[in-house]
Amino acid sequence: MSVQINPSILSADFARLADEAQAVKGADWLHVDVMDNHFVPNLTLGVPVVESLSRSTDIPLDCHLMIADPDRWAPQYVEAGAGSVTFHAEAAAAPVRLAREIRAKGARASMALRPATPIEPYADLLPELDMILIMTVEPGFGGQQFLDVTLPKIRRTRELISRHGLQLWLQVDGGVSASTIERCAEAGADVFVAGSAVYGADDPAAAVRSLRGRAEA
Ligand code: DX5
Ligand code: ZN
Repeated sequence: MSVQINPSILSADFARLADEAQAVKGADWLHVDVMDNHFVPNLTLGVPVVESLSRSTDIPLDCHLMIADPDRWAPQYVEAGAGSVTFHAEAAAAPVRLAREIRAKGARASMALRPATPIEPYADLLPELDMILIMTVEPGFGGQQFLDVTLPKIRRTRELISRHGLQLWLQVDGGVSASTIERCAEAGADVFVAGSAVYGADDPAAAVRSLRGRAEA
């Protein structure tokens, strides 16, 4: 299982996004948090910013849509240049149709679960996805404390993936840091989003390397 580290630009300087993408050389993907002040009580950026960012960096974009009505919006993020698009299970009206549409447009399709949403009702959907995101904080803000209560769900998701011989990636997002990443890796995560732990560091690229080292240990 190879480890991927995806810095979240939510903790970066929004006025210097292209430079901030440069600052995390060695990262696998750039995690872009899209919030609509409806699905979550915060507002960030939308399609035009993703479009500009995708033109100004070589790092592929991992767009995490914390928005209502992803069925309508997610395909536009693929067109804007995202390499991976994550919609929330709690917000999607037709998750299978949406995942197929994202894939058909050429991006990786991914679905996210809030901390209180169980994985079991979605077990049969996993083959439709390229990644499942288990939120390890309530979505909406960076810099929150990691919720240990999500670890059993990460473990059960990894078991489902192994049992069915699936290839999808298991991403964790929220409170991932030097002190929590090992717990996530041990529970079965292989893609790690880190906002404040990377952009809050003096040397973001070094923070990416050190997180990777801990996850691989
Ligand atoms: C939170 C976002 C996260 C956030 C993580 O709702 O989805 O991607 O940027 O930030 P940290 O790593 O600081 O918890
Ligand atoms: Zn996120």
